[in-house]
Amino acid sequence: MLAKRYTGKKLVDNIFTTSKKAKQAIKKYGKENVINATIGSLYDEEEKFAIYNVVEKVYRNLPSEDLYAYSTNVIGEDDYLDEVIKAIFYDDYKEELKDLLYIASVATTGGTGAISNTIKNYMDTGDKVLLPNWMWGTYKNIVIENGGKIETYQLFDENGNFNFEDFRSKVLELAKTQKNVVLILNEPSHNPTGFRMTYEEWVKLMDFFKSIKDTNLIVIRDVAYFEYDDRTEEETKALRKLLIGLPKNVLFMYAFSLSKSLSIYGMRIGAQIAVSSSEEVIQEFKDAISFSCRTTWSNVPKGGMKLFETIMKNPELKADFLKEKQAYIDLLKERADIFLNEAKEVNLDILPYKSGFFVTIPIGETVDKVIEELESQNIFVIKFDKGIRIGICSVPKRKIVGLAKKIKEAIEKSK
Ligand SMILES: Cc1ncc(COP(=O)(O)O)c(C=O)c1O
Repeated sequence: MLAKRYTGKKLVDNIFTTSKKAKQAIKKYGKENVINATIGSLYDEEEKFAIYNVVEKVYRNLPSEDLYAYSTNVIGEDDYLDEVIKAIFYDDYKEELKDLLYIASVATTGGTGAISNTIKNYMDTGDKVLLPNWMWGTYKNIVIENGGKIETYQLFDENGNFNFEDFRSKVLELAKTQKNVVLILNEPSHNPTGFRMTYEEWVKLMDFFKSIKDTNLIVIRDVAYFEYDDRTEEETKALRKLLIGLPKNVLFMYAFSLSKSLSIYGMRIGAQIAVSSSEEVIQEFKDAISFSCRTTWSNVPKGGMKLFETIMKNPELKADFLKEKQAYIDLLKERADIFLNEAKEVNLDILPYKSGFFVTIPIGETVDKVIEELESQNIFVIKFDKGIRIGICSVPKRKIVGLAKKIKEAIEKSK
């Protein structure tokens, strides 16, 4: 019955399935006896879903019309569109990046909408999209949904640094046969590892992008977790400067999401932010993307956009948000430190973690056995390729204590 191009697809969502098992165990054995590290949302130390007070206050006081009416434009509310650019490039972006770059944004249904809208519009049918080997699985499904294929680059080299050589050779290989090469960099606070690149790694990467001549490069930078990174403003501003001098054939597309930033996952608010040195490329982006928005979700919830712009435009509310956010960053760091220190003590190998919601342990062929062993002890984790992901975003500190040792023992037992 399905149209030919839509046959053979079935959503296998390992995260939802495992998380259901964890919930059943909680019902049977009680909350205190179960470690549910499957959740990808922020939870507090009482294991309750994290809600920003400033979000509650502002959202519940928005005028009813803002909650129920259509957005003013298909591409989103004007102030929202400007505030998302400022969230990534700071308030002075117009002066600092003036004349050197053209920037435009379009509201999307979360980061997922931003990524799928980009792949749909920039990947030619049958082409390969370049993804990291450790990745959020939905990337693959988006590519397949749009008639593309997958190529992967090794995210890490043997020292746990960004594997520039593999990345470079994969880009050059695809550039031999494709007019457009679409690729994804999920950074900072990479899912599932918490990886972030250094300034020097970014410099090398940007020099490489600037050297590409006859192929169009569409660099999707997935910044879904950027608010929970502890890079300084100075460093982020230095990275911003590296965009200057991009050739016209390189388009940077930031996939922005408020799901994690404001802990409003269900509201489905995000944006595509396109950056180019070509006015024409940005005009084409605006024309084509608004067309896609109108034919898929039409426009995104006005209330979510108003919520964000209201907080960001009011210095007191913004200060409240930043204060609350800092407390969550500190909490994530405390949880990560417990896990990483204990992992070191028991010699448990971990993929390079810098910031964010997740820590990943590479396991190898015995990964299923390890998961089975952990589940028999009421510890639920997510399988990512041949590793396991621990959602430190949702596990309280008291339950993280001792977890690294239990994982190490499960690995030894499964050998
Ligand atoms: C790496 C990554 N990118 C993007 C998203 C998209 O999230 P949303 O569509 O809720 O904004 C997620 C959500 O889990 C994610 O983990």
